[in-house]
Amino acid sequence: MKILILHGPNLNLLGQRETMIYGSKTQNELFDSIKTHFPEINFSFFQSNHEGVLIDKIHESLDIVHALIINPGAFAHYSYAIRDAISAIALPTIEVHLSDIFNREEFRKNLVISDVCQEAISGKGIDGYIEAVNKIKDIL
Ligand code: DQA
Repeated sequence: MKILILHGPNLNLLGQRETMIYGSKTQNELFDSIKTHFPEINFSFFQSNHEGVLIDKIHESLDIVHALIINPGAFAHYSYAIRDAISAIALPTIEVHLSDIFNREEFRKNLVISDVCQEAISGKGIDGYIEAVNKIKDIL
């Protein structure tokens, strides 16, 4: 099983960015712990701060992976273009947020991508990614 984990803007700064909210693990440490948890799965990881680059990667993933896990960062709150890309490829997709977006600023409650995802998980830190992989295993 091949799963692509996609990260949107500012997630490259994990480990140094607002650690009270996002934790002290770096992005690479996060990816490593997901891989260690599921040695049987073939993961690929990709991060970009650019909407179009993420959209290109979503399009390319169609013939390459079986499912997506996406933490779109702030794009979750306003990128209809990323929403449409996920809808277009129609692969099983789970949205994950490290922080509890429903107990933060008002604008974070607006999710424009989650309706084309099988599930949106928030506020569970790295465990949210583990839960997302387990959901994909159930779906496939
Ligand atoms: C985030 C939540 C978003 O609101 C924020 O813009 C991020 C990170 C999270 O993982 O909690 O960049 O997606």
